[in-house]
Amino acid sequence: MCSLFMAKTPTILAIESSCDETSAAIIHQGKVLNNIIATQSIHENYGGVVPELASRAHQSNIVPVVTEALKSVGLSVNQLDAVAFTKGPGLLGALLVGTSFAKGLAMSQNIPLIAVNHMEAHVLAHFIQDPVPNFPFICLTVSGGHTQLVLVEDHLKMLVIGQTRDDAVGEAFDKTGKLLDFPYPGGPLVDQYAQNGDPLAYEFPITSVPGLDYSFSGIKTAILYFLRDQVKKQPDFIKRNLADICASIQHTLINMLMQKLLLASENHGINTIAIAGGVSANRGLRARLKNISKQHNWNVFIPEFQYCTDNAGMIAQAAHYKFMYEAFSNLSDGPDPRLQVGALI
Ligand code: KG4
Ligand code: ZN
Repeated sequence: MCSLFMAKTPTILAIESSCDETSAAIIHQGKVLNNIIATQSIHENYGGVVPELASRAHQSNIVPVVTEALKSVGLSVNQLDAVAFTKGPGLLGALLVGTSFAKGLAMSQNIPLIAVNHMEAHVLAHFIQDPVPNFPFICLTVSGGHTQLVLVEDHLKMLVIGQTRDDAVGEAFDKTGKLLDFPYPGGPLVDQYAQNGDPLAYEFPITSVPGLDYSFSGIKTAILYFLRDQVKKQPDFIKRNLADICASIQHTLINMLMQKLLLASENHGINTIAIAGGVSANRGLRARLKNISKQHNWNVFIPEFQYCTDNAGMIAQAAHYKFMYEAFSNLSDGPDPRLQVGALI
């Protein structure tokens, strides 16, 4: 990274296309002005994101979404100082759509290109609105593909101190939804039914691995066997107990998340705690974090709903910091589906 701090406060167009949301946002003088999101409902019936369909939907959505982002703030492309895109992690074909579009625009306008790490952007969503966390803080980033504990030392200085060794917690929510016959993604529906259920109705075993890492594959299997055994005894078990099932599973997943978050806070002596990513929209998780924060004297940061799931606002915020340090990308830079936190800095 270049050490020169740019005096200009830029206007940047940011594009997010890593999974099943096509999104564009404009940031001007460090303030995110809008956050246009086109969600791909086509995956609902398939039980998960179908990569080929996602790429095609991005291809159809990208021009209207970018046009809307520019139009809604009265900007034209020749007023942009840079264009940013999600480099990874994500689905290769989906990332290619945003990357190629951003490159074409950067070339046509002769403006810098900024590559953003999707997982770092989830963390930086906390800087879109006040109040913002002080450094250092610990961010629990929970999404459909990742579960990470990140030590955030500065806007562009992050270290993963713990992560899942197998499935992400969002995947555990979505697989639960699939077993309960919910459309994809099941996470928000599990959350919704859990609101009216008893979190202690059923007990599930917590699988724990040493240190700050997570593992969610065991609980996923335990849920599968539990439901299979109950349905054998009582065919309408799920229908009759849906709220209690959702509340108990959600309670267990939150317990697992909190156990390692508490350990991370203790090990690093840090009590400024944030959550980010799609699962941070979960009402049970948000409520539990607020509760725990009182007992442990934590200063907690929970993003607004629109900045939890995938959005270009967070890409724009990350791009702003990278612009200030002239951390530009070049036109030969391609998408990286497995990009790690810290790899672009
Ligand atoms: O961050 P995100 O939009 O995409 C990825 O980067 O993966 O996260 C999507 C994940 C999905 O697994 C979805 O089910 C989950 O976030 N999710 C939720 C809720 N809202 C979204 N999980 C539980 N409760 C919610 N309210
Ligand atoms: Zn995400």
